[in-house]
Amino acid sequence: MKPLTIAIDGPSGAGKSTVADVVCQKLNILHLDTGAMYRAVGLCALEMGIDPYDEAAVSRMCEEGKALVDVKYQDGKQITLLNGRDVSPLIRTQEVGGAASAVSRYVPVRTMLVKRQQEMAAAQPMLLDGRDIGTVVLPDATVKIFLTASAEERARRRMLQLQEKGTFTPFEEVLAEVNARDLQDTTRDLTPLRQAEDAILVDGTNITFDETVEIILKLVEEKYGK
Ligand code: DC
Repeated sequence: MKPLTIAIDGPSGAGKSTVADVVCQKLNILHLDTGAMYRAVGLCALEMGIDPYDEAAVSRMCEEGKALVDVKYQDGKQITLLNGRDVSPLIRTQEVGGAASAVSRYVPVRTMLVKRQQEMAAAQPMLLDGRDIGTVVLPDATVKIFLTASAEERARRRMLQLQEKGTFTPFEEVLAEVNARDLQDTTRDLTPLRQAEDAILVDGTNITFDETVEIILKLVEEKYGK
């Protein structure tokens, strides 16, 4: 029997990663945050002084094996490696997020990362979250979820997160960033963010975090009998 695979796709700020972590704890399976892998490539470009919007230079960087991304797990927690170095603490900035969104549009980047994601999911039960999991990475995933929330709600949550870190950013500014990222992720030529035909839409705008987790666990149980 194929290992259990759960695909969660959706726009940035929908809470995919936090929801995925709890679902994985409950099911005792690993969580692969694929966005972290794109962020590692974005960071690599920034560190090498390469403009993330320079398609030729970013492609060359990947093809020459200068941006080797891998993932390992420590006590069930994902550690993202760039050329063998743990870059997990460096990839959560706005700057790296923007670079990730830019480099994720290029064929060599996607080919390299999708291959690694498929290898990992074939080896063990896993939940993958990203933008193209249900459509490209795991078209035969056991359960496919498209987790979203309104742009305003995602901006509100992001603003609170920033506040917790001691940064006050006006709502309008955060909302503009959310809308800009959505536009970039949904309009790129190569595998833009979209809901797979057989994915189940979960709209988290008016439900709590716990309710979202419950809905997903129930869907997994229905499909996989766990
Ligand atoms: O989920 P995130 O914000 O960490 O992702 C960073 C960027 O990577 C996001 O703007 C789009 C891209 N991405 C992608 O193209 N495909 C994925 N499977 C995951 C992320």
